[in-house]
Amino acid sequence: MHILIRQEKNEDANEVYHLIQQAFEDSDYSDHDEHNLVNRLRNSTKFIPELSLVAEYDGQIAGHILFTEVHVGDQTLIALAPVSVRPEMQSKGIGKLLITEGHKIAAQLGYKGSIVLGHDTYYPKFGYKKASQYGIEAPFEVSDDHFMAAELIDGGLTDVRGVVEYAKEFFEKE
Ligand SMILES: CC(C)(COP(=O)(O)OP(=O)(O)OC[C@H]1O[C@@H](n2cnc3c(N)ncnc32)[C@H](O)[C@@H]1OP(=O)(O)O)[C@@H](O)C(=O)NCCC(=O)NCCS
Repeated sequence: MHILIRQEKNEDANEVYHLIQQAFEDSDYSDHDEHNLVNRLRNSTKFIPELSLVAEYDGQIAGHILFTEVHVGDQTLIALAPVSVRPEMQSKGIGKLLITEGHKIAAQLGYKGSIVLGHDTYYPKFGYKKASQYGIEAPFEVSDDHFMAAELIDGGLTDVRGVVEYAKEFFEKE
């Protein structure tokens, strides 16, 4: 199975919108607005085009991931949100490819760390640990286990402390 990970293009937006909606449809840990969130984030000052990626399989988009800039104290990091794989294509390693390729590009761009709110059984595979271990806090009520941070380079989070400031678009649900 050959999966191509590439930057999202303008003309992918519609297919990506429906893919995200489908991916989160049955999820209990979702506000079912992730597809609209991604549309808002594309117009955000915190949007990073190089970190809006799709997984292409057989000419179709099978997965999508977006990382946007966040601030913690005087440091700029990224936040992974959301990642989605087409339901019939899940558990084939596509999520893993999107996350690892995203981290690689982010490190090349100079980002030192990434934040995620998500499954505590999934993200630790990619280097995420409880954010509280680094002194990084969420700006909302969240269980300590699900709010995580990963270093993208060795020691990348050593000097990072404080509350994560997300793009305002995260809080503008329609
Ligand atoms: C979560 C998601 C992006 C993972 O992508 P994927 O391509 O299915 O995952 P991968 O093939 O890379 O990894 C599969 C592994 O992840 C596990 N996994 C998949 N979804 C999981 C979940 N929701 N919680 C915990 N583990 C999960 C699988 O059990 C599998 O484990 P194994 O490698 O030990 O067998 C995808 O399942 C998805 O789109 N889910 C719905 C949307 C969602 O929940 N997004 C994440 C929000 S935090």
